[in-house]
Amino acid sequence: MEFGNNITVSQRLGLVPASPIRKLVPYANEAKKQGVKVYHLNIGDPDVETPEVMMNVLRNWHDNPIRYGQSQGEPVFLKALKTYYHGLGYSFIDVPDIQVTSGGSEAISLALFATCEPGDEVLVFEPLYTNYNTYAVVNGVKLVPVRTRAEDGFHLPKQKEIEKKITKKTKAILYCSPNNPTGTVFTPSEVEGLVALAKKHNLFLLADEVYREYVYDGKKQTSLLTYMHKIPKQAILLDSMSKRYSLCGVRLGALISLNEKIMAGVLRIAQGRLSAGFVDQAIAAKLTEVPQSYLESVNKEYEKRRDVLHEGLKKIPGVVIPKPEGAFYAIVGLPVDDAEDFCRWLLTDFRDNNETVMLAPAAGFYATPGLGKNEVRIAYVLNVQKLTRCIELIAKALKIYK
Ligand SMILES: Cc1ncc(COP(=O)(O)O)c(C=O)c1O
Repeated sequence: MEFGNNITVSQRLGLVPASPIRKLVPYANEAKKQGVKVYHLNIGDPDVETPEVMMNVLRNWHDNPIRYGQSQGEPVFLKALKTYYHGLGYSFIDVPDIQVTSGGSEAISLALFATCEPGDEVLVFEPLYTNYNTYAVVNGVKLVPVRTRAEDGFHLPKQKEIEKKITKKTKAILYCSPNNPTGTVFTPSEVEGLVALAKKHNLFLLADEVYREYVYDGKKQTSLLTYMHKIPKQAILLDSMSKRYSLCGVRLGALISLNEKIMAGVLRIAQGRLSAGFVDQAIAAKLTEVPQSYLESVNKEYEKRRDVLHEGLKKIPGVVIPKPEGAFYAIVGLPVDDAEDFCRWLLTDFRDNNETVMLAPAAGFYATPGLGKNEVRIAYVLNVQKLTRCIELIAKALKIYK
C-alpha cells in the first residue's frame, strides 16, 4: 500500500495560472530536439550585452565561500541605488527607503502583501503584465481590471471610468509604465491622475517602472517619484535591474517607499528569506560605473527594433499593431480566432527553411476571461536581422494557417 494517496494539495495552488510566456516552452523544446531553429519573441530576455564593468566582477570573483548578503541589501548595492535615483533628480531617496529584492518580481509580491489583506482588491490596467495574476493569487488579492484599448494606444481611460471600479475593498492601484505588454508610456497627466485618485480614495499607488529607460521618439518617462511627496505614505515604486542593464539572470530589484511602516514590514519579510543574491549585488553595484552612453545606445537599439517590427507587421494583411512608445513589447492583433492555437501550431507544425518563431498568446495578459484571444504579445528582444526574419516567418505562417 502506498502512503499519501489521500493527501490533497491546496485549492489556491490550483488557482495559480501558467505563464503564457512560458507555457508553450515544451513545444519549443520538442521543435529544437528535431533540429528546428526557434526564434524567441515570447519572453523579455534581451540579447543586448551586459555592461563590461559588471561582467568583470564575475570574471574576477575570488571570495570563497559565497556568503549570504544583508537582508535589506548589501551596503555597496544600496549606495549604488541611492546614487542612481539621485542621478535621476530624486535626491530625497535615502538608503532606509530602499529594500533590495530578488528581482522586481519579489518587489511586486512584497508590495501586494504589505498593502492588502486577503480578499482586498487592486485595480490594474489590462492588458497587464501577466505575472501580476500570479502574485495576486499567491497573496490572496483580487485584481480588478480596468480595460485599456488598442484604439487609444492603450492609454488610460477617463478618470470616471477608473473610479467606477473602486469599491470598499479596493486597497491599491498597480500600474506599469513604460508598459509590458503594450509598450505604452503614460503621460505626466495620466500619472498625476492616478496620484490624485490614490489621494482622493486613500489608496496605495504601486508603480512598476522596470522599463524606465526605454522610451522612444525623444520622449521621457514620468516617474511616480516625481509625485512621491504628494502621497508619501501611499506611493510605492517597484524597480528591477533585469532590463536596464541586461541582467535578467542577476535576480535583483528594489521596492522604494517613504512609508516607514511599509519599509519596516518588508524588511521583516526580507529577514525571513535571508537575503538577495550576494554575487548578484556585487555585479549590479557597478551600475554607477556604467557609462550613460550604454543606456543611450541600448535605447537607440530598441527604438530601431520597434520601428522594424511596427513597419513590418503593419504591412501584413489583418495584423493590427499600435505603435509602442517604450519598453520592448507590443500587443499585436492577428487575423486568427485563437492566437494560442496559432502560437502552438507555429511550434509543432510550421517550418520555413527549418525555422520557426515563438510568440506569447495574449489572453493571459488580460484578467478578464475571453479578452485577447486573437492577440499575441511580441518581445522585440532580437537584433534587427533576426527580427526581420521573424516578421517574414509570421507573414508566411499567417498565409497558410487554417
Ligand atoms: C512589467 C514587469 N515588471 C516586473 C518584471 C520582473 O522582472 P524581474 O523579476 O526580472 O526583475 C518584469 C519582467 O519581465 C516585467 O516585465
